[in-house]
Order: sequence, then structure tokens, then C-alpha cells
Amino acid sequence: MSGNGSATDLSRRALALEVSPTVAVAQRAAALRAKGEAVLDFSVGEPDQPTPRHISAAATAALEAGQTRYTPAAGLPALRAAVAQRYRKDFKVVFSDSEVAITTGGKQALYLACQALLDRGDEVVIPSPHWPTFSEAVRLAGARPILVHTQEKDGFQVTARLVSKATSPRTKAVILNSPNNPTGAVIDPEDLLVIGDMAQRRKFTLLYDDTYARLGFGRDGGDVLQDLRQAVGDRLVVLGTASKSYCMTGWRIGWVLGPKPLVDACTALISHSTQCPTSFAQAGAVEALTGPQRFVQELCAEYRRRRDFIHAAVAALPKVSCVSPGGGFYLFPNMARYLGADVPTTLELARRLLEQQRVAVVPGEGFAAPGYIRLSFARPLDDLHEGARRLAAFLEGLREG
Ligand SMILES: Cc1ncc(COP(=O)(O)O)c(C=O)c1O
Repeated sequence: MSGNGSATDLSRRALALEVSPTVAVAQRAAALRAKGEAVLDFSVGEPDQPTPRHISAAATAALEAGQTRYTPAAGLPALRAAVAQRYRKDFKVVFSDSEVAITTGGKQALYLACQALLDRGDEVVIPSPHWPTFSEAVRLAGARPILVHTQEKDGFQVTARLVSKATSPRTKAVILNSPNNPTGAVIDPEDLLVIGDMAQRRKFTLLYDDTYARLGFGRDGGDVLQDLRQAVGDRLVVLGTASKSYCMTGWRIGWVLGPKPLVDACTALISHSTQCPTSFAQAGAVEALTGPQRFVQELCAEYRRRRDFIHAAVAALPKVSCVSPGGGFYLFPNMARYLGADVPTTLELARRLLEQQRVAVVPGEGFAAPGYIRLSFARPLDDLHEGARRLAAFLEGLREG
């Protein structure tokens, strides 16, 4: 027997993996639900609507037609073309089909890009608060995440100045996520272009996660992605997914867009790990990307209505401040003024909110932002009304307690 002699003699890599502190709340919420309790769950990061019928029908038809075999590792040619075309139509940015690899969800796109790009000793700048998978994917590739903290008073804006200060000669990549999970902040196009220029001059890659790009509430970002590609060239890698804008979280279809050598490296990694994304899920994704797009606009309009309601309701609560998200479906209110000897952390605040009011939220600790909570408004408006009522009652109890 080797190592410490235990039957589960895990690698350093596995031992270093941080289990999210949010898991405890999610597990408790699931346990309460299993007991039949009416838990209002605002912790989930997925749309509440089902996948549109025409998409499911395309996948079913593919299944029935026998599309049940391996596909090419980089994905079905029709899907690679559909992704490239969607970006051309939506963002006017041009990637050729051979600069697209289809992945098993956006998570795998990030994982593969990190494995293909990063070496031990490399640094990756990540504006924070951030989605925890960014830092874990960087660590899993042996590199070091360098967190750069955005501020609530600035609307959690990622500025070129902030990014510049965090870069060093070891910077191999900068991860940008716009609209951001969890803050909902959208990067200003001017800052984005300055960061792009920096990437070109200082020779780092921009890993641009646009998971929530089609769920933006502001003015249309125009041609910023195209301008960015022109500024950055082959140092721009776009990580995307069908999960959120097409209500396809369980389908596990995402993509990497970038220079061919990187896409080929990702494809080689796919060929030795998952082999390919699920064949009939890819057929559904072709329909999602090439079929009618009105659904996405309606989804976005619906989230905007929900954002307007929940932001106004939460921002009006005593001692709570809250930036209005510019896209996506998360609200990230500051609860710090409720913390003290009795409730020392937002981890504890979230635990009590669940115990006392049966409301599940994600504590900010999960996003390197203690003092905040993340509340998903990808829930029906009635739930949001009731959730806001319960949150108000809970906070009133804290003030009196
Ligand atoms: C910022 C961000 N990127 C990527 C993803 C990946 O989504 P999926 O793996 O479902 O495609 C998520 C999911 O929550 C996300 O929030």
C-alpha cells in the first residue's frame, strides 16, 4: 500500500479541490424539501422555464433517426457551423467553423481552455466577486488565480485600471465574465477594448465567458465583441453555453471559440476524456441556434421584469444596499449591516434564513465576497413576491433580536 495507507489515497489535486461552502445550504434545502417543506429556492443558477418544444422535438427526432453514435470529438459539423453563425448574427464577430469546439456544457469549455493554456507557475487574473469554478479550473490546471476585487460602490465594474494593476509578467490569462455571475455587472465596452489592447501588448489570453450575454437588460452591446476580436486577435477565447439562454442546463452543450491550435488542443482533450458531447443533445442545440430566436428575447424581457421587481423590493429593505444587475438572473445584495456577534457571517445568515423562513440563497462566501448573498430571480414572479416578504420578515426579526 502506498501513500498514507488509506483506501482513498487521493491525489494532491483532488485534496486541494475546494468544496463550495454553498453546498451545505443547498443540501439542507434539499433535505427540507424531501420532508415536504415549502422551501423557496433562490439558490439555483438555472432558468425555471422548460426547454422550448421545437428544440426538444429536434433532439427526439435525432434520437429516433438513430443519431446515437459517437460524433466527431469537436462536435457535429452542423453544430460548429451553427455556433459560428449565431455569433456572426448576434455579435457580428467572425470565427470560422474550425475555430469552434463543442463541449459538454460551459463548465467543460472553461476546464478545457485552462488545461490547454495553462502551466504551473502561470497566473490568471480573475475579477471578483466571481463564479467559483473560475478559480478552481485555474488551480486544477496547476496555475494561480489572482483575484482582483471590484467594489459595490462602483457597481462592481471591472475596469481596465483594476486589471492592469493585477497583471504581472507571469499573467497568462485574464478571465472576464459579462454579465457577471454573481453581481450582474456588465463590462463597459471601452474598458473591454482597453483590456483587449493590454492583452495584445502584454501577451496574455482573454478568456471571455459570455454565458449570460443574451440575457442583458441594457442597450445592445453593439459590435463590441467584434471590436474586441479585432483588437485581441488570436488572444481572444470565447467560452459559451446553450444552458441559460435556451433553458438547456441539463443538456450539457457549450463551446469554445478561439484560435485553431487552442481549439485543436481542446478537441484532443475531449477525445481522451468525454469523447464527444451527447449526439442527440447536439442535434437539439443545432435547432436552438438556427431556429426561431424570439424565445430568447422573451426570456430576457421576462427576467428584466423580475429584476425590476426583486431589485426594488430588496433595495428598499432597511440596512440593505443592492446594485441593479445589468444582465443575467442574479441579485447580489449587501447584508453586511446585519452581521455582528449574533450572526457573524453571511454563511450563518443564509443558514438561519433557510431554517426560519424556508428561503434558500447562496452566501457570498462562495464567491469570495463575504457580507453578500446571491439570490437567483430565475423563479416565477409569485415566488419572488413571497420570497421578498419572507426576507423582510427575517431581517425584521434580526433587528429586533
Ligand atoms: C459564469 C458562468 N459560466 C459558465 C457556466 C456554465 O454553465 P453550463 O456548464 O451549464 O453550461 C455558468 C453556470 O452557472 C456560469 O454561471
